[in-house]
Amino acid sequence: MKLATSLDGRIATGAGESRWITGEAARAEVQKLRAAHDAVLIGAGTARADDPELLARTTPPPLRQPVRVVLDTEFSLAPLGRLFATLDRATLLVIGAGDGDEARRKALEDAGARTAVVARGPLGVDADAALAAMVEHGVERVLCEGGGQLAASLIAAEVVDRLEWFRAPIVLGGEGRPGVAALALSSLADAPRFNRVALRDVGPDIWESYERVS
Ligand SMILES: NC(=O)c1ccc[n+]([C@@H]2O[C@H](COP(=O)([O-])OP(=O)(O)OC[C@H]3O[C@@H](n4cnc5c(N)ncnc54)[C@H](OP(=O)(O)O)[C@@H]3O)[C@@H](O)[C@H]2O)c1
Repeated sequence: MKLATSLDGRIATGAGESRWITGEAARAEVQKLRAAHDAVLIGAGTARADDPELLARTTPPPLRQPVRVVLDTEFSLAPLGRLFATLDRATLLVIGAGDGDEARRKALEDAGARTAVVARGPLGVDADAALAAMVEHGVERVLCEGGGQLAASLIAAEVVDRLEWFRAPIVLGGEGRPGVAALALSSLADAPRFNRVALRDVGPDIWESYERVS
């Protein structure tokens, strides 16, 4: 999982503005991380707020672009925007729930996306089932790029092996959107823990890498 946050762990202002929190050098490293994975995963909230392309823009470009995956429980994405405009360059897989809207799912397929139907979980689609659906589409290594709700549900499901955390020297305050949303912890002992395995400067930012404590 990659996070690009302020010093106080925020990924966007309260109004949802997130471009750009980190600097050019950090963003270039994120492009390399994308290129090194089979898929890039985001939640429907990020797809709606940012209208991203999610392509790996490296020099030279990757031999194969990662599959772009959106967890969209009700298949509510409009079949417009940059993810659809770039279908000639990379696959788009939209994963929704079994009792989601069939007509909407079909509209996304007609627009060129692939879709997968999985079980519903506590916060949308079931995280483990979504990962299994990705495996069926040939994905072994996935880079989750948020947002905060998806980050929380993947961390809670204990499926995040590694955190690539880019931290910019700005402060967004309590009204900013958290990089990791509520985990409903009942005690500090229940908090997911990670070991730091690397720490580097990237321009004005810091890049920390962590591995999950199993
Ligand atoms: N700084 C950064 O690096 C960065 C990166 C990404 C995003 N952002 C910012 O983060 C904000 C969006 O974050 P967000 O937390 O609101 O949204 P999010 O985590 O991107 O998406 C959450 C939505 O995804 C869907 N979903 C489906 N299955 C889910 C599951 N198992 N767990 C969690 N969500 C699931 C749900 O919507 P449905 O019920 O509609 O399916 C849920 O409301 C935007 O402002 C964006 O700009 C910043």
